[in-house]
Amino acid sequence: MSKVHILDHPLVKHKLSYLRDKETPSKEFRALINEITQLLAYEVTRELPLKEVEVETPLQKTICHRIDSPDLAIIPILRAGLGMVDGFLGLLPTAKIGHLGMYRNEETLEPVAYYAKLPKGIEDMQVIVVDPMLATGGSASAALTYLKKQGAKHIKLAAIIAAPVGIETVQTAHPDVEIYVAQQDEKLNEYGYIIPGLGDAGDRIFGTNE
Ligand code: PRP
Ligand code: URA
Repeated sequence: MSKVHILDHPLVKHKLSYLRDKETPSKEFRALINEITQLLAYEVTRELPLKEVEVETPLQKTICHRIDSPDLAIIPILRAGLGMVDGFLGLLPTAKIGHLGMYRNEETLEPVAYYAKLPKGIEDMQVIVVDPMLATGGSASAALTYLKKQGAKHIKLAAIIAAPVGIETVQTAHPDVEIYVAQQDEKLNEYGYIIPGLGDAGDRIFGTNE
């Protein structure tokens, strides 16, 4: 089974309380997604390899460390994953961005893929798939399967809120992929929404339901 990292931090809990609030408007919702993503990114990047470099401070030479990683690719699952791109790019400004278009069929809850554009050389990159919601896990699982078919070997998944069943689905299908979530929620309702959740993340990020 892959490891699941669940953030346990007062800043994350504080921000999630505003993110979940149905009165929070799109502009603030986007800002909160961005801030929580930065806190998630801090954890997702914890094991990036470092190399030693010699630096001269105003006082003397010293050995410091810089990231020595293969190229990084951030892959948002459209639409809602787009909301998490800036949070990662702020910390990893040289990362490449790929896009996977996917939506859930509202009746079957099965993911439907409609677009894909990946950076060249994905095989050797450290890939980070981002989507705020991990509900049934169908979309994330399909995204990971697609990326592996394209040759990706080193993949992590970052979500803001996850249902237990979503985590289990991804772990079973992709035991090699580490999962990072800001919070694990209770369950799914009969329509496949995360409870208590935050509603439809894509609609709230893009204001399409206001
Ligand atoms: C949401 C969310 C995930 C998916 C999660 O996207 O952003 O991609 O649902 O559900 P799952 O784990 O059951 O697959 P949605 O299909 O609403 O599309 P959108 O981002 O375009 O709104
Ligand atoms: N997608 C969302 O945007 N919200 C949920 O609760 C489940 C899937």
